[in-house]
Amino acid sequence: MAGENCDLLFRNAILIDGSGAPRREADVAVCGERIAALGRLDGWRTEREIDASGLVLAPGFIDVHTHDDRLLLAEPLMTPKLSQGVTTVIGGNCGISLAPLVAERVPPPLDLLDAGGSYRYPRFADYLEELGARPAAVNAALLVGHSTLRVATMDRLDRAATKSEIARMRTIVAQSLDAGAIGLSTGLFYAPANAAPTEEVIELCAPLHERGALYVTHMRDEADHLLESLEETFRIGREAGAPAFISHHKAAGVANHGKTRQSLAAIEAAMRAQPVGLDAYPYVASSTVLRWDMAERASKTLVAWSKPHPELAGQALDEVARAMGCAQKEAAARLQPAGAVYFMMSEEDVRRVLAFEHTMIGSDGLPHDIHPHPRLWGTFPRVLGHYARDEGLFTLEQAVHKMTGLSARNFGLEGRGLIVPGAYADLTLFDPARVRDAATFEHPATAAEGIELVTVNGKVAWRDGRPSGARAGRVLRRQAGGRDRAS
Ligand code: ZN
Ligand code: CU
Repeated sequence: MAGENCDLLFRNAILIDGSGAPRREADVAVCGERIAALGRLDGWRTEREIDASGLVLAPGFIDVHTHDDRLLLAEPLMTPKLSQGVTTVIGGNCGISLAPLVAERVPPPLDLLDAGGSYRYPRFADYLEELGARPAAVNAALLVGHSTLRVATMDRLDRAATKSEIARMRTIVAQSLDAGAIGLSTGLFYAPANAAPTEEVIELCAPLHERGALYVTHMRDEADHLLESLEETFRIGREAGAPAFISHHKAAGVANHGKTRQSLAAIEAAMRAQPVGLDAYPYVASSTVLRWDMAERASKTLVAWSKPHPELAGQALDEVARAMGCAQKEAAARLQPAGAVYFMMSEEDVRRVLAFEHTMIGSDGLPHDIHPHPRLWGTFPRVLGHYARDEGLFTLEQAVHKMTGLSARNFGLEGRGLIVPGAYADLTLFDPARVRDAATFEHPATAAEGIELVTVNGKVAWRDGRPSGARAGRVLRRQAGGRDRAS
């Protein structure tokens, strides 16, 4: 193979290939959008040689849990993600997808994605087409959201869908999957979907099986009824004949701390009978819309955004209440519509979930919040730096696997998540000694350290601490049998 030419050549990298296998030293050659060869590539030549000695070359990270549906279009350089080494995002989570829905005003939590008139896609295909025509710097695979479908189809949301509404929604699920959505997500915890009985969800999942599509859920209850919610999730997956993925797995509220011991045992048992998976982010605080029933069980609540009081973003709810001269419950009401960060998990549970062999990493970042949870900017480097390197919770190889090979396999992202010849050249080069999250609860919009270079489909997307401007991301459409193909 002597004397071959390529577009990009990484020399003397510490290769962590995404499979979980031990690191090894290697050169990696990229031709066009793909990895051409790896090993000792002495005879290879290129215009662009990158000295990777002392640096880890890993597959680009896959953020399996995002709310980036609108960010991909609004800020296509995707700095919060590229700066972490993320090259693919999965959007449409928690029952919230930007399509298909046309609405001027939407109820919480759909407003997490809205900038006023953002819901303007009659069909899922319309959204994917726009994303394909105006590409972002990272790849995106999208779920269609149950809450979005309910808002689009039903006159009121505080009841079960009727037979004809279910039929209409099921048709839209099928159309969305045929347009390229990779699965259906639910957010049964949230008001727009909470009145939906299990059977409604099972019926909407009917089109998943034959298309090899997935069911992904923000469960009905992550607190007192965590274990019952898991059973509901397994039942939906089983009856739909679809893999079921539990989003941002946690045990919320002091009364439930320690419950992940039982929940992970239940997940492990279910996995013996059916395809099940889960993701998590590496923080003890959660974040979503502001709800008093959540603030009530949190040890501390921060305001992430407020429509009537944008100036209060970043402040603690108890301070806001004091300044307003009212109870916290009343303050929470006066801030609406609003978002918040809730300190409500235990460190022990977070570690147990992250260390669980089958847990993937997903940020659940909320990109449009004024004062967002730091997970938006810090998730992946925090797992690599804080939890793998500094705390030794798992090896760096395992950490990388949780954000690459495992995720690509679970979500059917063909040709991604592993560094092997022929794979797409989504690559992240990072310094294993320096990589760390710099985003904090005080200063959340801070780029991580130690991410040296990122390529997406063979194009350099991040270098010298900033986006290159390349927008080589693709829409990863579901293909029959659950395989993705570039569009
Ligand atoms: Zn969620
Ligand atoms: Cu979410």
